[in-house]
Amino acid sequence: MYHKYGVLMTLNELFQKLWDDYSSINKQAHAIHALLEKQGERVINDHIAFRTYDIPKVNIDVIARPFIKFGYQQKKEYQFPEKKFFAFHYEHKDISLPKIFISALKVKEFSPDIQSIIDNLVNQVPVDHTQRDDFVVSGILWKPISYETYKKLQHASEYAAWLSVYGFRANHFTVFFNAFKKIKTLVDINQLLKNHGFKLNTSGGEIKGSPQEYLEQSSTLADPIEVQFADRKALIPGCYYEFARRYLLPNGKLFHGFVAPSADKIFESTDNKQ
Ligand code: NI
Repeated sequence: MYHKYGVLMTLNELFQKLWDDYSSINKQAHAIHALLEKQGERVINDHIAFRTYDIPKVNIDVIARPFIKFGYQQKKEYQFPEKKFFAFHYEHKDISLPKIFISALKVKEFSPDIQSIIDNLVNQVPVDHTQRDDFVVSGILWKPISYETYKKLQHASEYAAWLSVYGFRANHFTVFFNAFKKIKTLVDINQLLKNHGFKLNTSGGEIKGSPQEYLEQSSTLADPIEVQFADRKALIPGCYYEFARRYLLPNGKLFHGFVAPSADKIFESTDNKQ
């Protein structure tokens, strides 16, 4: 399974490592899988999302590298001016494989104080580690920050705060709604989730997007996980699960992109203000 120098033999191994890590810290994942299977549905992955800092050592290109190696290509760019990050999505020529969505925080747009906190984290990342195929499953590669530093980051950017405690790993996996046979609408899946005690991200409504935008999305709220800070433990929202329903474009092909205003709201699934 595992090879020296962090070189993975196959894309499947990378996906497996990502899923094992994600589902081990996000207990919802297995529970939601089991729930869907009980309904007789097959779970197909639409996309996997990553967060990083826009600093050359760990930027989007660095996160994308193993995926590019395994045949992915960079597609569209998305801007999130309010939250100060941007993103690219990647597709494999085998379109049945999940898309990869990588965002990066525009660190330079923050105050010198915030920039220096983030620079200090990224400076601790061993350069050779960023060259590994499994760099995207590393978690944090810096000493845990203090709770006070976390709160300072959180005040400036929920995204920066999340990344500082969870590091490099899948932020979320997404169920491809179109593969469902029995569940007919996102409203139905949302109701099923709520009936089973899962909390939904309601920012911008439970469903983000519309058929007119060729994409509808909904997501759970990330469950809090106990995180060890330098000085104490605290419960911090971890990872969430998303559902994406894609519609046909006028040319008859399925829309494979993303809709920035919807994604903007989905990002709030790790926001403990909800
Ligand atoms: Ni997503």
